[in-house]
Amino acid sequence: MAEDLRRGAAAAHGLLTLLTDRIDDGLLEAAPKLVAVSNMATGYDNVDIAAAGRRLVLVSRTPGVLTETSADLAFGLLLAAARRIAEGDRYVRAGNWRTWGPEIMLGPDVHGAALGIIGLGRIGTAVARRAAGFGMRVLYHGRNRKPEAEKDLGVVYADLDTLLARSDFVSIHAALTDDTRGLIGAGQLGLMKPTAILINTARGPLVDQDALYEALRSAAIAGAALDVTDPEPLPADSPLLSLDNVVITPHIASASVATRSEMARLAAENLLASLAGDVNDNAVNPEIAGDWRAARSERLRG
Ligand code: GLV
Repeated sequence: MAEDLRRGAAAAHGLLTLLTDRIDDGLLEAAPKLVAVSNMATGYDNVDIAAAGRRLVLVSRTPGVLTETSADLAFGLLLAAARRIAEGDRYVRAGNWRTWGPEIMLGPDVHGAALGIIGLGRIGTAVARRAAGFGMRVLYHGRNRKPEAEKDLGVVYADLDTLLARSDFVSIHAALTDDTRGLIGAGQLGLMKPTAILINTARGPLVDQDALYEALRSAAIAGAALDVTDPEPLPADSPLLSLDNVVITPHIASASVATRSEMARLAAENLLASLAGDVNDNAVNPEIAGDWRAARSERLRG
């Protein structure tokens, strides 16, 4: 697949890419006519933005259209992990449901619990709105304070260590960058309550997966729900799959019929806009616009 992309890119002015396509300096070098890359995702850690900037290739993404759908899945995973929904389904299918029992499949309450949101961007904010409906108290941590969200949603800012120590659920919504890779490692997991549940619907490498396995295995935390892993797909022999206190879905946060259609439409629209010389709000590296416009005209002529 990477080879097909490389071959196709050699003569292409534009590429419409998925988050599974690695757009690195080598690929860009092999694509001398390239004007624009349109990534059908809100995240763009699969694209080397510095290299794209150097080579005057405009990169765009599809934010906004997947916010609510992604927040739905994050909240669904939170509920699934807390109330042991996937585990309960396995239990029934395995023929283990012999009676109703007062202590069978107990989990923590979601309503009224404390939720820590790491990264209060669009999706994190949409998760906070859902949490309000469940009467949850919400702490958040991010690069910037969000006074509007604090006022409108009653969310409270906390440094990362405080958020981890005080939350019953921790949901990650940060972008993957060099600064956030491994954001949640053994030290951070060690700060969490033994009853806490970690939810990651952002990017797998934000979490040190070996440390997470160890924390789950040793009951240092109660559970996890992951829509993203490192690597993806998660190998079938991953030790995580031997644990009952983790729910894993295959990177499907934005996977509703309507949202995937919108993402595809927007990615196509972004690509056409870039090829036409427009730098809109979905551009990731608009700072190159000046030099890029000149390069664009030359490459389209060539
Ligand atoms: C999905 O993970 C996205 O970034 O859109």
